Amino acid sequence: MKVYIKTYGCQMNERDSDAMASQLEACGHTIVFTEEEADVLLFNTCSVRDAAERKAKGKIGYMKKLKAQKPGLIIGVAGCMAQRLGDQLLAELPHLDFVLGTGQLHTLPEKLAEIAATRARFSATEPSFDVLTGMGGHFSHTWHAEIAITRGCNRFCSYCIVPYVRGREISRSISDVVEEARELVANGVKEILLLGQNVAAFGLNGDTRPPAPGYSPFADLLDELDKIDGLLRIRYTSPYVSYFNDRLIETLARAKKVCHNIHLPLQSGSDRILKEMNRQYTRDSYLAKVAELRSAIPDITFSTDVIVGFPGETDADFALTREVMNQVDYAQSFVFKYSPRPGAKSAERQDSVPEEVKEERNQILLADLAARVEKRLAGMYQKTVEVLVEGVSPRNPERWSGRTGTNIMVHFEPDDKIQAGTLRQVKIIQTNPVSLFGKLAD
Ligand code: 5AD
Ligand code: SF4
Repeated sequence: MKVYIKTYGCQMNERDSDAMASQLEACGHTIVFTEEEADVLLFNTCSVRDAAERKAKGKIGYMKKLKAQKPGLIIGVAGCMAQRLGDQLLAELPHLDFVLGTGQLHTLPEKLAEIAATRARFSATEPSFDVLTGMGGHFSHTWHAEIAITRGCNRFCSYCIVPYVRGREISRSISDVVEEARELVANGVKEILLLGQNVAAFGLNGDTRPPAPGYSPFADLLDELDKIDGLLRIRYTSPYVSYFNDRLIETLARAKKVCHNIHLPLQSGSDRILKEMNRQYTRDSYLAKVAELRSAIPDITFSTDVIVGFPGETDADFALTREVMNQVDYAQSFVFKYSPRPGAKSAERQDSVPEEVKEERNQILLADLAARVEKRLAGMYQKTVEVLVEGVSPRNPERWSGRTGTNIMVHFEPDDKIQAGTLRQVKIIQTNPVSLFGKLAD
């Protein structure tokens, strides 16, 4: 059959869609890139904010028209919203054929065969650990690949739906991940991005206490991956701040291929709000970890996630968040307006901050970010940096782009030997508030 997959949400969802595409292809199906060509439409969905669910539901609702024209069309919903709503989706959307929860993604090929034969609608949302090992295939083949190293989350931040929709945290073994990485590298991959809801909890068997000094299975994994010949870069997202112990920091500083950039979610800079979010750190302990990381890895850059308008967030709480963000000097930040998620603890409280205030706080943080980025980029003028070449620049076909290990994009004019997935030296010869332009220097 011809299958079209549309993905909403995070990189883990992108990864899951890629693995499902690979499984389907291995079973003789064809992946197509337009809805009109497809025999099967699969929507891999997100529940993290209400807007993500509304968007997917709107789209699926709209597919009713297509199904009316093509009655044999099979429509399925997978992922987090599928897990959260299950049967309710079948009831709400009469043209929907199946619902596949986050623990059942690996069963897609057999489920598709069943539904094609019987046309019986179903919802499968039972948790299953098999999803961990059953989702290792890769459909896209470029210089970059993603590997899911953990699934689920045990932290239960009060605002977050993830522990409910993705279930308890489980990790793969080091040998399993290394094997997948070796195979990818043998097929031309140069950069891997390790994925997990809390990657630094890798190998801790779901224990939510930060690991003891000297102990970090995640660092052990990085050490093993660092040894793979032909692999140029290792990235990871996202870790929780309190898991950066001496062992992990020492590895990050020493490893040759691990990039000097950490996406380190802050969520709030106010201790009172952090406590209500059930985040297990304070503003000071977060800042102390950042300082420790900076002293071990001087060129490190940070990015972050913050939520504005959590229930009860005052102007003073918000001012603290703003202050910490400017102090850490994040190179990138993602600001989210609080959205109550039914089932998560904070949804029991009134969503008290008005939408206009959330939007105002969002705009302030975005303007701060723009000012920080402009300053950081200006400071790179005349410096020579190493980039991993990504390909032709999306905005200007005459230019190519590459990214530094610290995750800063650089545009430049290509030479005859330019090739995606190679490391090149670039001297920055022009900066503007949002981008860098350089000249190949090797
Ligand atoms: N409302 C707004 N943002 C949220 N996030 C998670 N849950 C919510 C919510 N209920 C944000 C967090 C997380 C990112 C992926 O999404 O900042 O790090
Ligand atoms: Fe990813 Fe969370 Fe959205 Fe699920 S709910 S797709 S884990 S961001």
